[in-house]
Amino acid sequence: MSLTNLDWPLMRNNITREDLDRVITHLSQPEPRLTHGERVRGFEHEWSDWLGVKYSVLVNSGASANLLTLALLREQRAGGEVILPPLGWVSDVAAVLQNGFTPVFVDVDRRTLGIDPQQVIDRITPHTRAVLAIHILGYNALTTELIAELDRRGIALLEDACESHGATLHGRKVGSLGLVSNFSFYFAHHMSTIEGGMICTNDPGVYETARMLRSHGMVREATSAELRRSYRDKHPDLNPDFIFAFPAYNVRPTEISGVLGSSQLRRLDANNEIRRRNLTRFLAGLDPARYQTDFAVEGSCNYAFTLVLRKPDMTLRDRVEAALSSSNVEFRRGLSGGGNQLRQPYLRQILGDEECEKYPVVDHVHFFGCYIGNYPGLEAEKIAQLTTMLNAL
Ligand SMILES: Cc1ncc(COP(=O)(O)O)c(C=O)c1O
Repeated sequence: MSLTNLDWPLMRNNITREDLDRVITHLSQPEPRLTHGERVRGFEHEWSDWLGVKYSVLVNSGASANLLTLALLREQRAGGEVILPPLGWVSDVAAVLQNGFTPVFVDVDRRTLGIDPQQVIDRITPHTRAVLAIHILGYNALTTELIAELDRRGIALLEDACESHGATLHGRKVGSLGLVSNFSFYFAHHMSTIEGGMICTNDPGVYETARMLRSHGMVREATSAELRRSYRDKHPDLNPDFIFAFPAYNVRPTEISGVLGSSQLRRLDANNEIRRRNLTRFLAGLDPARYQTDFAVEGSCNYAFTLVLRKPDMTLRDRVEAALSSSNVEFRRGLSGGGNQLRQPYLRQILGDEECEKYPVVDHVHFFGCYIGNYPGLEAEKIAQLTTMLNAL
């Protein structure tokens, strides 16, 4: 086994000197605005244009975007079931629970790592309010057939695209396919505002509610003068500046996030092209007898390589992890969010110890999958060294 020091972190140079200089320029103004304002609005518009949606609302994290999305759903159709996979992030499940919905889990498709469309259809009941599709590590989770079927049945499609900026379904960007979508701009993702998240939609009502929920539920945050007036007229006993429509949150960003987001977005497409090339190299270099290489790469856009053993094999898993560690390659077992959420204490205490075993594909990646960083500056030579090393284990 090679013990070469590959010096390969999960992410490198995601926030550049150029980005920081733009922050410094902003701060160097005589009286720079720091709480959210023009620069946040500017980034939201640019992001909507890039994604192909009408509206975007910047918040302080991807988890906050999840929370507000399920809160929005609660305001539209309270109570009932939300179908989602147990592979994603704790905040997907937490947002469902915290807003009074019952999570209904389905397994994932091994090639997309996203919800298995047939299982989603099979689990729909009269109580289903929404499907939360999570696009895992840059692979699109949706099919046009599933989108059409949910639409026909009047079930809301929510997309968590926190790990999939720039991935597409038949040329349409994920995050523009459902009623509401979420992105994360945490450091290790495709682009970063240090911490940050985005809620995106084409629905003006969803947009206005998201703006209010972001800021204490305050009506003055709505952009529609008519909406503000209707609240004012209905509540003449209240100071119009302090009308709280919802019991909500403060998950606002700062202007610095807006400056960073706009600066980062300029490089996103070019960086994503490099990431696609890197992933192709990585999967082509792996031995398909040992590792899964047939992921649904068409339209994918990953910030991390998915390394999944072809078969359950603890000995090989341990050898892979030891080799990665000794070569100084950072990795995370379980793919997204540490793997099968149903194995986590917060869900075991609700659903018991056996529920986690009902989702074999998720359980396989939980034990035999990990991800490795895929950042723009990653050298082709390192990818070749890594795959050669992995194939020799
Ligand atoms: C699928 C998914 N959803 C939500 C989140 C939460 O995003 P954040 O870390 O910005 O809160 C993450 C975090 O990485 C994620 O991977």
